[in-house]
Amino acid sequence: MNENELKEIAALKSKEYVPLEGFVGIGTGSTVKYLIKLLAEDYRKYSNVTFVPTSAESMDLLNAGGLKTSTNFAGQIRIDIDGADEIDPQGNLIKGGGSALTREKIVAVNSERLIVIADESKLVKKLGRFKIPVEILEFLSEQTVKNLEKLGCNASYRSGEKSRSDNGNIVVDLDFGLLDNIIEKEIELKMIPGVVEAGLFVGITWKSIIGTQNGAKEKTYK
Ligand code: A5P
Repeated sequence: MNENELKEIAALKSKEYVPLEGFVGIGTGSTVKYLIKLLAEDYRKYSNVTFVPTSAESMDLLNAGGLKTSTNFAGQIRIDIDGADEIDPQGNLIKGGGSALTREKIVAVNSERLIVIADESKLVKKLGRFKIPVEILEFLSEQTVKNLEKLGCNASYRSGEKSRSDNGNIVVDLDFGLLDNIIEKEIELKMIPGVVEAGLFVGITWKSIIGTQNGAKEKTYK
């Protein structure tokens, strides 16, 4: 099976966790797109669900599929299903390859449970081969990037449509190499004025569902 088929397997399994009422977070990326497609095929079943999308792209796909969305509501998000760029053995993540990291983290931490769906190529022993996406304000952004580099990384700007988030901010990618202290790294990054969010998701994942050549493999972390 190719990578896309593995993503689809993970998405199909995760659909079993989507409740039939309440608020449900929906992430961003190609794996999540498979899930949205599967949900849209059954849109009548989800008429009592309000989906909370982490990007304009996911919102448009949900609405086009006949599924209700909101990003401004009072209530508890029961479950959030999202993709990832890297997943370590403890379920810690690098996210933001699609520039949606800030909304993804807000939805994830405000959900009772985060399920990460991915193909098996996303599993790593240690995070950091995928550069850490960081969203920063445009205001004095060159100074912010210099301050980020003082932490010991190489920063690169993106080109094209992923160079900005849906919030209008700049997304840069930080190469620290493989990471040893991810909690400290997340704190260090977030302490720099101008940083809106960092694409390290530490200790948030409840479960991963990985598409493998032997089917969907689930792992629960907390
Ligand atoms: C979006 O900003 C990212 O966090 C995505 O969740 C991540 O890039 C996964 O994308 P794929 O499902 O396309 O691999």
